[in-house]
Amino acid sequence: MAGHDLPEGFRYLPAYLDRPAQEALVEDVRAVVAAAPLYVPQMPKTGKPMSVRMTNCGSLGWVTDREGGYRYQERHPATGRPWPAIPAVLLQIWKDVSGYPAPPQACLVNFYDGDARMGLHQDRDERTFAAPVVSVSLGDQCLFRIGGTARGAPTRSFRLSSGDLVVLGGESRLSFHGVDRIFPGTSTLLRNGGRINLTLRRVDS
Ligand code: SIN
Ligand code: FE2
Repeated sequence: MAGHDLPEGFRYLPAYLDRPAQEALVEDVRAVVAAAPLYVPQMPKTGKPMSVRMTNCGSLGWVTDREGGYRYQERHPATGRPWPAIPAVLLQIWKDVSGYPAPPQACLVNFYDGDARMGLHQDRDERTFAAPVVSVSLGDQCLFRIGGTARGAPTRSFRLSSGDLVVLGGESRLSFHGVDRIFPGTSTLLRNGGRINLTLRRVDS
Protein backbone atom coordinates (compact mmCIF):
# COMPACT_ATOMS: atom_id res chain seq x y z
CA MET A 1 0.00 0.00 0.00
CA ALA A 2 1.51 3.31 -1.06
CA GLY A 3 1.08 6.07 1.49
CA HIS A 4 -2.54 6.23 2.51
CA ASP A 5 -3.81 4.74 -0.72
CA LEU A 6 -6.01 1.71 -0.51
CA PRO A 7 -4.30 -1.50 -1.56
CA GLU A 8 -4.44 -2.62 -5.19
CA GLY A 9 -7.42 -4.87 -5.84
CA PHE A 10 -9.50 -3.48 -2.98
CA ARG A 11 -12.96 -2.40 -4.08
CA TYR A 12 -15.64 -0.68 -2.07
CA LEU A 13 -19.08 -0.79 -3.70
CA PRO A 14 -21.41 1.29 -1.49
CA ALA A 15 -25.17 0.73 -1.63
CA TYR A 16 -24.75 -2.26 -3.94
CA LEU A 17 -27.98 -3.82 -2.63
CA ASP A 18 -31.15 -1.73 -2.38
CA ARG A 19 -33.48 -2.08 0.58
CA PRO A 20 -35.76 -4.76 -0.95
CA ALA A 21 -32.70 -6.83 -1.91
CA GLN A 22 -31.32 -6.45 1.63
CA GLU A 23 -34.65 -7.57 3.12
CA ALA A 24 -34.77 -10.62 0.85
CA LEU A 25 -31.19 -11.51 1.77
CA VAL A 26 -31.98 -11.25 5.48
CA GLU A 27 -34.73 -13.84 4.96
CA ASP A 28 -32.20 -16.09 3.22
CA VAL A 29 -29.80 -15.65 6.14
CA ARG A 30 -32.58 -16.50 8.61
CA ALA A 31 -33.16 -19.75 6.74
CA VAL A 32 -29.43 -20.53 6.84
CA VAL A 33 -29.29 -19.85 10.59
CA ALA A 34 -32.37 -22.01 11.17
CA ALA A 35 -30.58 -24.96 9.52
CA ALA A 36 -27.11 -24.13 10.85
CA PRO A 37 -27.37 -22.28 14.19
CA LEU A 38 -24.99 -19.46 15.10
CA TYR A 39 -22.29 -20.63 17.50
CA VAL A 40 -19.56 -18.95 19.52
CA PRO A 41 -16.17 -19.50 17.89
CA GLN A 42 -13.10 -19.94 20.10
CA MET A 43 -9.58 -18.72 19.51
CA PRO A 44 -7.04 -21.46 18.80
CA LYS A 45 -5.08 -22.72 21.84
CA THR A 46 -6.52 -20.27 24.39
CA GLY A 47 -10.15 -21.17 23.73
CA LYS A 48 -11.06 -17.52 24.32
CA PRO A 49 -14.52 -16.90 22.87
CA MET A 50 -14.83 -14.45 20.00
CA SER A 51 -17.43 -11.70 20.34
CA VAL A 52 -18.84 -12.40 16.88
CA ARG A 53 -21.20 -15.34 16.48
CA MET A 54 -20.80 -17.41 13.33
CA THR A 55 -22.23 -19.97 11.01
CA ASN A 56 -21.70 -20.87 7.35
CA CYS A 57 -23.33 -21.94 4.15
CA GLY A 58 -21.72 -23.59 1.15
CA SER A 59 -19.84 -26.86 0.71
CA LEU A 60 -17.18 -25.74 3.21
CA GLY A 61 -17.45 -23.62 6.33
CA TRP A 62 -14.77 -21.76 8.26
CA VAL A 63 -14.63 -22.75 11.94
CA THR A 64 -12.31 -22.29 14.88
CA ASP A 65 -12.05 -23.80 18.33
CA ARG A 66 -9.45 -24.37 21.00
CA GLU A 67 -8.42 -27.85 19.89
CA GLY A 68 -8.58 -27.61 16.12
CA GLY A 69 -7.74 -23.97 15.38
CA TYR A 70 -8.73 -22.18 12.20
CA ARG A 71 -9.92 -24.50 9.44
CA TYR A 72 -12.54 -25.30 6.86
CA GLN A 73 -14.83 -28.27 7.27
CA GLU A 74 -17.86 -29.74 5.55
CA ARG A 75 -20.05 -29.95 8.65
CA HIS A 76 -21.45 -27.71 11.35
CA PRO A 77 -19.42 -28.23 14.54
CA ALA A 78 -22.47 -28.52 16.81
CA THR A 79 -25.08 -30.27 14.66
CA GLY A 80 -22.69 -32.40 12.58
CA ARG A 81 -24.81 -31.68 9.53
CA PRO A 82 -23.54 -30.39 6.17
CA TRP A 83 -23.84 -26.62 5.78
CA PRO A 84 -26.91 -25.35 3.90
CA ALA A 85 -26.50 -24.13 0.33
CA ILE A 86 -25.32 -20.62 -0.47
CA PRO A 87 -28.39 -18.50 -1.36
CA ALA A 88 -28.84 -17.85 -5.08
CA VAL A 89 -28.57 -14.07 -4.73
CA LEU A 90 -25.09 -14.42 -3.18
CA LEU A 91 -23.98 -16.71 -6.01
CA GLN A 92 -25.15 -14.04 -8.45
CA ILE A 93 -23.27 -11.29 -6.59
CA TRP A 94 -20.11 -13.41 -6.75
CA LYS A 95 -20.62 -13.89 -10.50
CA ASP A 96 -21.08 -10.18 -10.99
CA VAL A 97 -18.15 -8.88 -8.94
CA SER A 98 -15.54 -11.58 -8.34
CA GLY A 99 -14.13 -11.94 -11.84
CA TYR A 100 -13.50 -15.59 -10.92
CA PRO A 101 -14.78 -18.43 -13.13
CA ALA A 102 -15.81 -20.87 -10.37
CA PRO A 103 -18.53 -20.30 -7.76
CA PRO A 104 -17.71 -19.65 -4.09
CA GLN A 105 -17.21 -22.75 -1.91
CA ALA A 106 -17.68 -21.08 1.45
CA CYS A 107 -19.85 -18.32 2.85
CA LEU A 108 -19.04 -17.31 6.41
CA VAL A 109 -21.94 -15.66 8.24
CA ASN A 110 -20.80 -13.28 11.00
CA PHE A 111 -23.28 -11.79 13.42
CA TYR A 112 -22.19 -8.77 15.47
CA ASP A 113 -24.22 -7.47 18.36
CA GLY A 114 -23.61 -3.89 19.51
CA ASP A 115 -20.49 -4.82 21.48
CA ALA A 116 -18.89 -7.23 19.05
CA ARG A 117 -15.73 -6.52 17.11
CA MET A 118 -13.15 -8.37 15.06
CA GLY A 119 -9.45 -7.84 15.50
CA LEU A 120 -7.11 -7.08 12.62
CA HIS A 121 -6.40 -10.30 10.69
CA GLN A 122 -5.66 -11.76 7.27
CA ASP A 123 -7.92 -14.27 5.54
CA ARG A 124 -5.33 -16.91 4.77
CA ASP A 125 -6.75 -20.29 5.71
CA GLU A 126 -7.59 -20.96 2.06
CA ARG A 127 -5.39 -23.03 -0.25
CA THR A 128 -5.74 -20.46 -3.03
CA PHE A 129 -5.62 -16.70 -3.00
CA ALA A 130 -6.37 -16.39 -6.71
CA ALA A 131 -10.03 -15.68 -6.03
CA PRO A 132 -11.07 -12.55 -4.13
CA VAL A 133 -13.00 -12.43 -0.88
CA VAL A 134 -16.39 -10.81 -1.47
CA SER A 135 -18.04 -9.32 1.60
CA VAL A 136 -21.65 -8.14 2.03
CA SER A 137 -22.80 -5.98 4.97
CA LEU A 138 -26.35 -5.95 6.39
CA GLY A 139 -27.83 -4.06 9.33
CA ASP A 140 -26.02 -1.62 11.61
CA GLN A 141 -23.00 0.29 10.36
CA CYS A 142 -19.52 -0.70 11.44
CA LEU A 143 -16.10 0.88 11.47
CA PHE A 144 -14.08 -1.25 9.07
CA ARG A 145 -10.30 -1.04 9.01
CA ILE A 146 -8.01 -2.12 6.20
CA GLY A 147 -4.23 -2.09 6.03
CA GLY A 148 -1.49 -3.70 4.02
CA THR A 149 -0.11 -7.22 3.84
CA ALA A 150 2.23 -6.61 6.79
CA ARG A 151 0.70 -6.30 10.24
CA GLY A 152 2.40 -2.99 11.03
CA ALA A 153 1.49 -1.24 7.77
CA PRO A 154 -0.67 1.91 7.89
CA THR A 155 -4.42 1.34 7.95
CA ARG A 156 -7.47 3.25 6.83
CA SER A 157 -10.88 3.12 8.45
CA PHE A 158 -14.31 3.83 7.09
CA ARG A 159 -17.92 3.04 7.83
CA LEU A 160 -19.62 0.15 6.09
CA SER A 161 -23.39 0.43 5.79
CA SER A 162 -26.17 -2.04 5.08
CA GLY A 163 -26.08 -3.12 1.44
CA ASP A 164 -22.40 -2.22 0.91
CA LEU A 165 -20.00 -4.65 -0.77
CA VAL A 166 -16.26 -4.97 -0.24
CA VAL A 167 -14.02 -6.99 -2.54
CA LEU A 168 -10.55 -8.05 -1.39
CA GLY A 169 -8.82 -9.10 -4.60
CA GLY A 170 -5.39 -8.75 -6.10
CA GLU A 171 -2.81 -7.45 -3.65
CA SER A 172 -5.53 -6.66 -1.10
CA ARG A 173 -6.52 -10.34 -0.91
CA LEU A 174 -4.05 -10.74 1.95
CA SER A 175 -4.53 -7.31 3.49
CA PHE A 176 -5.03 -7.10 7.21
CA HIS A 177 -8.58 -6.02 8.02
CA GLY A 178 -10.96 -5.94 10.94
CA VAL A 179 -14.01 -4.36 12.52
CA ASP A 180 -13.26 -1.87 15.30
CA ARG A 181 -16.82 -1.28 16.38
CA ILE A 182 -20.51 -1.44 15.54
CA PHE A 183 -22.71 1.66 15.56
CA PRO A 184 -25.94 0.43 17.20
CA GLY A 185 -29.20 1.91 15.98
CA THR A 186 -27.86 3.00 12.58
CA SER A 187 -30.08 0.63 10.55
CA THR A 188 -33.68 -0.53 10.73
CA LEU A 189 -33.04 -3.66 8.66
CA LEU A 190 -32.69 -6.15 11.53
CA ARG A 191 -35.56 -6.07 14.01
CA ASN A 192 -33.29 -6.55 17.01
CA GLY A 193 -30.36 -4.57 15.66
CA GLY A 194 -26.82 -5.75 15.09
CA ARG A 195 -24.83 -6.37 11.96
CA ILE A 196 -24.52 -9.34 9.63
CA ASN A 197 -21.48 -9.78 7.42
CA LEU A 198 -21.34 -12.44 4.72
CA THR A 199 -17.98 -13.36 3.19
CA LEU A 200 -17.79 -15.49 0.06
CA ARG A 201 -14.59 -17.39 -0.67
CA ARG A 202 -12.90 -20.05 -2.74
CA VAL A 203 -11.00 -22.50 -0.56
CA ASP A 204 -9.37 -25.14 -2.82
CA SER A 205 -8.46 -23.50 -6.13
C1 SIN B 1 -14.28 -10.82 8.36
O1 SIN B 1 -13.17 -10.34 8.13
O2 SIN B 1 -14.46 -12.05 8.45
C2 SIN B 1 -15.46 -9.95 8.58
C3 SIN B 1 -15.31 -8.57 8.06
C4 SIN B 1 -16.56 -7.78 8.31
O3 SIN B 1 -17.33 -8.11 9.23
O4 SIN B 1 -16.81 -6.79 7.59
FE1 FE2 C 1 -11.62 -11.51 7.36
